[in-house]
Amino acid sequence: MAPPEKQAEPEELNDVKQPATLAVSNQKGGVGKTTVAVNVAGALNQRGRDVLLVDLDPQGNATEGLGFADAYDAEPPSLFDVLTDSEQRGEIKRLVQDHAEMDVVPSNVDHHHTEREMTHVRRPTEQLSLALEGIGQHYDYVLIDCPPSLGHLTDNALYAAQNLLIPALAESTSKRAVELLFDHVTSIERDFDISIQERAVVANRVEETNEATEMLDWFARAFDDTPRFEVRKRVALQRAHSAGTSLFEYDPEVDMCDVFLDIAATLDEQFGLPPAETAPAREAR
Ligand SMILES: Nc1ncnc2c1ncn2[C@@H]1O[C@H](COP(=O)(O)OP(=O)(O)OP(=O)(O)O)[C@@H](O)[C@H]1O
Ligand SMILES: [Mg+2]
Repeated sequence: MAPPEKQAEPEELNDVKQPATLAVSNQKGGVGKTTVAVNVAGALNQRGRDVLLVDLDPQGNATEGLGFADAYDAEPPSLFDVLTDSEQRGEIKRLVQDHAEMDVVPSNVDHHHTEREMTHVRRPTEQLSLALEGIGQHYDYVLIDCPPSLGHLTDNALYAAQNLLIPALAESTSKRAVELLFDHVTSIERDFDISIQERAVVANRVEETNEATEMLDWFARAFDDTPRFEVRKRVALQRAHSAGTSLFEYDPEVDMCDVFLDIAATLDEQFGLPPAETAPAREAR
């Protein structure tokens, strides 16, 4: 659970710190959303940032991967109640799990019903944003690991974050996925009169193939104003997931650590965070 010293005093609440909030999103399955979310969180921690990772995916891969299988199977209240019952919104504080590198709002087996239940909720798209108001001030960053679908849950992430981190495979099937995501983001912007910024695109599982080269060129054209990164296929990323950590805890010598650190540095620059401390935030406590 979040350490008690992080609780804000009531008088601080008029001037609360706003975390940089990012939706890690691509409705295509298996492209690396969870891998990117966890490893960018690890890299931000290396730069001394306090990070909250919200596992908004009913599959709970980030939750289980980071070692919170018990929270995934826990009895109510869970993320389902937080997002579908305004009276239980404040329970999000009690859901927060303490990982060595970040705090985690875990997914839960009941969260499979959230998408359907949200049809009956007033202002369904705003529920995650409202819930995060209660805890966001404790963090520099909130990263939201999205499910592989475009529905209420992803809309909640886009509305709450208004910033996007897009992982995509360097293969031709990504073109349609990215175009669909763009169209969806545009419709959310129009519906809610908001502006959603693409902060970074991560070509993931890149290999030395002609198809990958063609797709990297396509990404360069489609995201000409957005910082782009390439994460290569590395079995260490799967092993780190199984070990319950980011690459930084699992094996900081793996070359892809540098890519995740570059992403973290770019985000710090975009969000105007002051120069990083040298020690990871969690170790500094
Ligand atoms: N760069 C990589 N190198 C090797 N394996 C990877 C890499 N990125 C992701 N993987 C593996 O690919 C699988 C899918 O990745 P991940 O779970 O991050 O995708 P996802 O987009 O979150 O999936 P879902 O859509 O189901 O939520 C996982 O087994 C993960 O460990
Ligand atoms: Mg995932």
